[in-house]
Amino acid sequence: MRVLKHLFERNAEWAAGVKKRDPGFFDRLAAQQKPAYMWIGCSDSRVPANEIVDLPPGEVFVHRNVANLVLHTDLNVLSALQFAVEALKIKHVIVCGHYGCGGVKAAMGTRSLGLMDNWLIEIKDLHQRHRAELAALSDAASRLDRLCELNVAQQVARVCHTPILQKAWRRGQEVSVHGWIYDLRDGLLKDLGLCVSGDKFTSPIYRLGEE
Ligand code: CO
Repeated sequence: MRVLKHLFERNAEWAAGVKKRDPGFFDRLAAQQKPAYMWIGCSDSRVPANEIVDLPPGEVFVHRNVANLVLHTDLNVLSALQFAVEALKIKHVIVCGHYGCGGVKAAMGTRSLGLMDNWLIEIKDLHQRHRAELAALSDAASRLDRLCELNVAQQVARVCHTPILQKAWRRGQEVSVHGWIYDLRDGLLKDLGLCVSGDKFTSPIYRLGEE
């Protein structure tokens, strides 16, 4: 007997439903993927990339991890980003955080979570850099939400600083990086106004020359 039988049943029903609405759907997707978007988001089960933007399979190339971090030592996110930009030639990289993020909340606390501490210290560093702004906010929920926004901004900058994006822009490839945040309370996305479409504003400190 199959374990998690109910999930296989749901899958079979879903696949049949898609096929009924669009008989060529799976044949087309099996032949190739040509998504225009890459999504870098939080692993939180309440923030599923495709559903939030109401796009079917094949439209969004997704990477998710706890607290939507982009670390320059993380081969996972960098490999996904490189493939998305260089092979798939996606047009938009969307870094999407969410208010009330458990990873950000944990990073604001003092409890040790084991291995997770090493991942979340990145957000503690961010908190440290913005401590004055955050301390000026009146309540814990506002501080958490603001740090969630600052975290998105930091990761947008990180994506832009990668050699992957710097080289793509130098080649003249059209690719933009966006910073969005999702609100679990109403299901709506907010654009944080961080769209970057070139290296014009890249600090000389991060700028890479030719190899
Ligand atoms: Co989260």
